Amino acid sequence: MTDILRQLEDMRAAARAGGGARRIAAQHEKGKLSARERLDVLLDPDSFEEYDMFVEHRCADFGMAQQTVSGDGVVTGWGTINGRQVFVFSQDFTVFGGSLSEAHAEKICKVMEQAMKVGAPVIGINDSGGARIQEGVASLAGYADVFQLNVLASGVVPQISLVMGPCAGGAVYSPAMTDFIFMVKDSAYMFVTGPDVVKTVTHESVTQEELGGAITHTTRSGVADGAFENDVEALLQMRRFFDFLPPNNREKPPVRATADAPDRIEPSLDSLVPSNPNKPYDMHELIEKVVDDGDFFEIQPNYARNILVGLARMEGSTVGIVANQPMVLAGCLDIASSTKAARFVRFCDCYNSPILTFVDVPGFLPGTAQEFGGIIKHGAKLLYAFAEATVPKVTVIARKAYGGAYDVMSSKHLRGDANYAWPTAEIAVMGPKGAVEIIFREDRGDEAKIAERTEEYRRKFANPFVAAHRGFVDDVIMPSATRKRVCRALAMLRNKRLENPWKKHDNIPL
Ligand code: HXC
Repeated sequence: MTDILRQLEDMRAAARAGGGARRIAAQHEKGKLSARERLDVLLDPDSFEEYDMFVEHRCADFGMAQQTVSGDGVVTGWGTINGRQVFVFSQDFTVFGGSLSEAHAEKICKVMEQAMKVGAPVIGINDSGGARIQEGVASLAGYADVFQLNVLASGVVPQISLVMGPCAGGAVYSPAMTDFIFMVKDSAYMFVTGPDVVKTVTHESVTQEELGGAITHTTRSGVADGAFENDVEALLQMRRFFDFLPPNNREKPPVRATADAPDRIEPSLDSLVPSNPNKPYDMHELIEKVVDDGDFFEIQPNYARNILVGLARMEGSTVGIVANQPMVLAGCLDIASSTKAARFVRFCDCYNSPILTFVDVPGFLPGTAQEFGGIIKHGAKLLYAFAEATVPKVTVIARKAYGGAYDVMSSKHLRGDANYAWPTAEIAVMGPKGAVEIIFREDRGDEAKIAERTEEYRRKFANPFVAAHRGFVDDVIMPSATRKRVCRALAMLRNKRLENPWKKHDNIPL
């Protein structure tokens, strides 16, 4: 009996050793943690229940029958983060480079299926050389099985990817279909074809980091949502992020106690908007002064910076924040910002997070680059996302809300539940100068007349009251009272019920 018990312990120890001390040391030399060390940081102490520790690959080609490692290059199971259940997989680069075999894929699929059954999120840690070359098409089939489950789980349980090493070829498409991607600077990269293939095909010389590193994907491509200095920082930030999320699409996000009073008045907001309409201010300041404890988890902070998106809490409950940023492109909507915000709005709607929108938008960005790039289709995504969302929607217009962009930014007309404007709001078809130059074309060149007409237009239309007269904003509020008014609106909306007409699925412009 004791022999059998000892044998079990020996087998466990062998599995825990992964690809062995030499390869773990090599992993550390690259500044990376091992697959198990990563789970230790991510999960609460002693909460990890491992599955399939003894699974081995079934490949006999290329001498593989003699090379088996228990667990086959991925550590899977479930645990808790701050007491809340989560399913995890963590690819082990020390075992065949973390490459995905048929058995490795089956392990990932098992935790994903289990997560969907019990309604808990999945966090995947990616560090892999891709398809297990020795297994050929069996490995490709494994990838496709994972992809299929990514799609079935989408909108059912939150799925989050941490990319902490190589992730190349078709392998990138599993993280791409999850809700969020966090990457580590200098050690993680994602690309469909690597630098060598790029060189051969397009003659471009590019490094791995330039082509698909964390900075590239969080500033240029928008593929990833956060770039972190090292494994530990990424994992600790993931723990913080996880606290904002609900377990699944049928439950609300957790409520966290806060000492920040819901009726807190913030006098400094009364002077946030400069008197000169062309002067910017930092929208971060408005968000941080309104949400609980100034705690705003910004997503994609360095991509499409003309719009801010992220998670925060009001009276302890998660809200998704969408806000134009006047500091960048004057807060105009363009292709990248529309796509960024649309995806985020849809995430909030899937997972029962009310959406709080702060508006200061002069319109859509003009120009051939935008038109040729399809701003019509991409701008429509944001309009579509706000319009289809059935979660509580609270909107505050701080300053400009012009043209189509006024409609798009969670307006009353898109079923906004509580729409407020500050006295500084300007809600109209277009800015005063542009409007006057069109309506009074005959006065062009007469600067004095144009200035007079512009002032008249500003007085008449560049204010919140024309919209308020029609009930398009529910109230004009003091900026300093924004937190109080939004908290009250969200409390009123806590039991909101709204359903869209039955459909197989919608057809958002892609
Ligand atoms: C089997 C692999 C492997 C793979 C790496 N290894 N990739 N084994 N299948 N795909 C093994 C190596 O043999 C080595 O084994 C160990 O992992 C570490 O690899 P190194 O090359 O020593 O590490 P490093 O120098 O850090 O380079 C990492 C790497 C490189 C850049 C990922 O290994 C690499 O280019 N691998 C091949 C990548 C690839 O072409 N994959 C297939 C892509 S196609 P030992 O025993 O020495 O430790 C694909 C399609 C997916 O993935 C399609 C989905 C639809």
